[in-house]
Amino acid sequence: MIFETHAHYDDEAYDDDRDALLASMQENGIGWIVNVGASLKSTMASIKLAEKYPFVYAAAGVHPSETAELNEDNFAELRAQCLHKKVVAVGEIGLDYYWDEPSQETQRLWFARQLELARAVKKPVIIHSRDAAQDTYEMLKAHRAEEIGGVIHCFSYSAEMAQAYVKMGFYIGVGGVVTFKNGRKLKEVVEAVPIERIVLETDSPYLAPEPNRGRRNSSLHIPYIAQRIAEIKGISYEEVVSETEQNARQMYRIGT
Ligand code: NI
Repeated sequence: MIFETHAHYDDEAYDDDRDALLASMQENGIGWIVNVGASLKSTMASIKLAEKYPFVYAAAGVHPSETAELNEDNFAELRAQCLHKKVVAVGEIGLDYYWDEPSQETQRLWFARQLELARAVKKPVIIHSRDAAQDTYEMLKAHRAEEIGGVIHCFSYSAEMAQAYVKMGFYIGVGGVVTFKNGRKLKEVVEAVPIERIVLETDSPYLAPEPNRGRRNSSLHIPYIAQRIAEIKGISYEEVVSETEQNARQMYRIGT
């Protein structure tokens, strides 16, 4: 079954049909979903969803664009949430220099703290990195991220960069962008990275794959992504689904 490694079902885009949508996942071949926190509030909501649905797991973390909300008190709460038995990763965390706020210094401070948190709770990280290729790589190196492990989600950098992360023991998250006509860079990444290092993700409600580009996304659209990866790598759709399922299980340390 398909393993969806990155979605945000706590988003208000699902307020009208969240339960019906999630209830339809398994009958449509979506076996597991990791709902990823991006703030303190969405981390809490992710854990609630994971408590409600056996096939949903959570990631606890604060997105770089939300790091201005962090302080020592709520960081201690975040740490406690990371120890919840259905929290399988610390994320999404990282650097986003596309936006001016919060400052790059603030983003780096809390990225470093959350990397060390992941090390302390012994869980992998989910990395969000946008327009910050060099700093992200250098910080992961400096924090010996090869001992922590995890995924570079919504990978947007070069094939060479992807190979450097694979060498570091990381997985590469591939989503809807691979189906876009202008998604040539990601196509090269998929060609360069062995299937053993690729995981499937949607980042729902964002980044819906073709032919649904621009609409609300959901994990039900993952087959379009898996199909495209199968074409690029010249292997079967079934192979893509089963390989990426194993990869995701290994990464998030979820047994059968
Ligand atoms: Ni996300």
